[in-house]
Amino acid sequence: MKRVAVFTSGGDAPGMNACIRAVVRGAVYHGLEVFGIRRGYSGMINGDIFQMSSHSVSNIVQRGGTILKSARSKEFMTPEGRAKAYDQLKKFDIEGLVAIGGNGTFTGATLFFDEYGIPTVGAPGTIDNDLYGTDHTIGFDTAVNTALEAIDKIRDTADSHDRIFFIEVMGRDSGYIAIQSGIAGGAEMVMVPEVLTPISEVIETLKSGWSRQKSSSIVVIAEGEEAGNATEIAEKIRAQIQSDIDMRVTTLGHIQRGGIPTAYDRILASRLGLGALEGLMNGEQNVMAGIINNELVYTPFRDTIRLPKPISEDLLRMVKILSV
Ligand code: F6P
Repeated sequence: MKRVAVFTSGGDAPGMNACIRAVVRGAVYHGLEVFGIRRGYSGMINGDIFQMSSHSVSNIVQRGGTILKSARSKEFMTPEGRAKAYDQLKKFDIEGLVAIGGNGTFTGATLFFDEYGIPTVGAPGTIDNDLYGTDHTIGFDTAVNTALEAIDKIRDTADSHDRIFFIEVMGRDSGYIAIQSGIAGGAEMVMVPEVLTPISEVIETLKSGWSRQKSSSIVVIAEGEEAGNATEIAEKIRAQIQSDIDMRVTTLGHIQRGGIPTAYDRILASRLGLGALEGLMNGEQNVMAGIINNELVYTPFRDTIRLPKPISEDLLRMVKILSV
């Protein structure tokens, strides 16, 4: 393999730049020509492809976002879109791809390989930590720390006013950001999509806190929670408790996607970027590089896409115990 290309796709995540840097510098080290594709599959379709050098990735290891930009391409999900993308890659003689992204990105890569035989190795880049085949995804640790900083600040004001706060965090269908930021922030309750939490249980926990003179309570809610979003859950609780206790709702939103990546994310991203590139060079195809128990492993895309990554019930049990 002489020529490879790298791109970022789907929701951006802090640490993606460190990952791009590792792919590019790894390729230069191994004597490969390396290209960047802007805006994920959209850029592949439109031929937004350019040659990169060691210098192209200077001074980016510490930056959030992605210098290659990102997109979710509907066109690539059509056979016509993929045909256009293949024509563009052929123009540049690109023989292999490193895709930094999540489930949607790897689904696209699998279809593309089946039709055109261009191999892809993935690096898991998403704040959601919802990919089977790696303990952590790039950006997750930074997002948890961003959410935690917000929870700590909210705790100050919640405590001053004796209020209950419902804080909604991102994660799509996954509760990883919620559980980790909730534990670290001392939340009284964490609601995640993976485990059913009856509203009655939330009310019971909150009431038991008041009876013990707790001056503030924080409920962290994952955005994919079945009972509804944070506002809906707060309303349901207000209707049922018939008390005039002060409640507020905060939705953290996209601040969780940006910011300076933590050291953990930069190191993880560097290992996964280099691991993906070297995997591609060694003949891996349609697999995602991941780190499990500190070891680099490759997991087929079909498994990363299909298999669930359950949250430890022990962690949820711990939230209950530690909020007494
Ligand atoms: O997958 C990352 C993520 O931030 C999810 O947590 C969230 O559900 C989604 O992307 C938001 O997507 P968008 O940026 O397109 O609104």
